[in-house]
Amino acid sequence: MHTHGESPTEILKEEHRVIKRMLTILNVACEKLEKDEVSPEIFRKAIDFIRVFADRCHHGKEEETLFPLVEQRGIPREGGPTGVMRLEHEQGRNFVKVLADAVGRYEQGDRDAKAAIIESARGYTQLLAQHIPKEDDILYPFANRILGPSDQKELLEKFEKVEKERIGEEKHHEYIHLVEELEKQLKIG
Ligand SMILES: [Fe+2]
Ligand SMILES: [Fe+2]
Repeated sequence: MHTHGESPTEILKEEHRVIKRMLTILNVACEKLEKDEVSPEIFRKAIDFIRVFADRCHHGKEEETLFPLVEQRGIPREGGPTGVMRLEHEQGRNFVKVLADAVGRYEQGDRDAKAAIIESARGYTQLLAQHIPKEDDILYPFANRILGPSDQKELLEKFEKVEKERIGEEKHHEYIHLVEELEKQLKIG
């Protein structure tokens, strides 16, 4: 991944911008599914993006590199901001599990699964829509105040490692391309 001299939290904020575009896609897809104007295929693609780009890669960087460093610098995990963020990631995983299950049932002809798709997809987008600003506006600026230059350097190195192991540069771009493709398909923007 090209970092272009960005700081670790700038990289994470950039990923948030891509994730937020996917949240909009999901919300529009829900509106269309209500009217039977969209195939469940779009939800499959969104689930793949969420699992790999948002969870394995972005949340991986947070949970395995940024949060532990913040915790090492004296901010307790239990009852602290990183503990809350970890809990919300876990809630997100649960929504996606329910969503994936509902999409599977819907594809097999279970019409009742439609409501479960919409409910879990909206639960996920609402969760993330309030999770992301908490990180952008509170946790990241706070982390930048308590982390020193060597911490920042260490984070950048670890980010590259997570990026390489979990997703790879090519796949990262493919996911951004997927977002653009789905926006076009749903006529967003
Ligand atoms: Fe997060
Ligand atoms: Fe995040």
